[in-house]
Amino acid sequence: MSNDTVTLIDNRTGKRADLPILDPTLGPSTVAIGGLPKALGYFTFDPGFVATASCRSAITYIDGEEGVLLYRGYPIEQLAEQSTFLEVAYLLLYGELPTAEELAAFERSITNHTMINESLKSFFNGFHYDAHPMAMMCGVVGSLSAFYYNHTDINDPADRDLAAHRLIAKMPTIAAACYKHGKGEPFVYPDNRLSYTGNFLRMMFAIPSEPYEVDPVAERALDVLFILHADHEQNASTSTVRLAGSTGAHPYASVAAGIAALWGPAHGGANEAVLRMLEEIGHPDNIPKYIAKAKDKDDPFRLMGFGHRVYKNYDPRAKIIRRHCYEVLEKLGKRNEALLDLAMRLEEVALSDEYFIERKLYPNVDFYTGIIYKALGIPTNMFTVMFAIARTVGWVAHWLEMVSDPELRIGRPRQLYTGPARRDYVALDQRG
Ligand code: CMC
Repeated sequence: MSNDTVTLIDNRTGKRADLPILDPTLGPSTVAIGGLPKALGYFTFDPGFVATASCRSAITYIDGEEGVLLYRGYPIEQLAEQSTFLEVAYLLLYGELPTAEELAAFERSITNHTMINESLKSFFNGFHYDAHPMAMMCGVVGSLSAFYYNHTDINDPADRDLAAHRLIAKMPTIAAACYKHGKGEPFVYPDNRLSYTGNFLRMMFAIPSEPYEVDPVAERALDVLFILHADHEQNASTSTVRLAGSTGAHPYASVAAGIAALWGPAHGGANEAVLRMLEEIGHPDNIPKYIAKAKDKDDPFRLMGFGHRVYKNYDPRAKIIRRHCYEVLEKLGKRNEALLDLAMRLEEVALSDEYFIERKLYPNVDFYTGIIYKALGIPTNMFTVMFAIARTVGWVAHWLEMVSDPELRIGRPRQLYTGPARRDYVALDQRG
């Protein structure tokens, strides 16, 4: 028997299955179980996919025990410190850091596509002023597929690239339009002389009657947050984009599916939930009450911004954001923000509590982001939209990787059926 297999013995029948071991460049090896149904007649059962590698991917690597996050091999700490969001986007999409020329061409291409079709703007009129921006974003991004349906051949690499660039370019424009619609203010057109985040800030906060200067502190603060949120391997929304895209669905529709998955409070919706939680806690004196609620199994309340499926030591993004939060608030003259003190106190109490220690629950990327967004003037219901802008890069990078994979098959999980066995239909008048 080769050493490169795992042998599974069925104690019911004595049958054996030799399953190949696949080795990665980093991290645990995986056992290919595709041959199991044929060899032993079994499926595997892994609710929540805690032990399942759903694909091969060369984009992002996470070591949850060590708190490591690498984009194409580069540590997140170095990228957050030294890179820019569009450079990171190029890296995630194409696998290598760009040369100066490649970066300039990429920035030009993204800049070229920041406008949205004028008729797309009328979609917003269908939403009530208080519609949640994530609901609007999901609908409007999905509707991009109507604009580009006949012009996107997913089997053509150039068309795929164009779709990827369009999505990255248009997300800030759509996000800002969601905000402006809620405020009843006119949409602001992109100004392509500005940086990606500078342009976004202007589309969010400028009004046509007033001059607007982009604050470089806010611009860089946002750029760093976008870098940290750009990708996170096979998380729920990225897996959703992959699953939708595996059917051959349009990239814009697949990304809209990802936006829907991101919205949940267990995933990207946590940043909004953290701020609402901090506001509800209100004062450090109330922390013990909320810690007790989080520990109470009869109470659905969870400490938002705490815990992660993969990170069991610390979330490296949270470490960077905590420090970043401090610096940004300092630079913006908002260091006395009471919410920051409350968050730090809450973190301290939770991290010294046996319940959180035992379960290895640490602050995640979303614990401090809301405080920075709030300091930048971004309203709470826009927080997850901010996450979506950044994660679009990851979604399209994974979509590009998947669609160009010659081994691509439709994603189609099986199940452990627990419903009734076959039974015959009973006529309505005979049911009792
Ligand atoms: N507060 C209180 N208890 C928690 C929390 C929390 N935030 N997170 C996990 N637990 C407990 C959970 O009840 C369980 O306890 P027990 O073993 O006694 O049943 C144990 O810790 C393991 O939790 P789990 O639900 O099995 O873990 P999971 O991997 O399925 O869920 C999670 C991960 C992130 C959904 C979860 O930790 C959570 O709901 N956190 C709060 C929401 C949040 O901050 N989400 C953002 C994630 S990071 C941003 C992103 O990438 O989306």
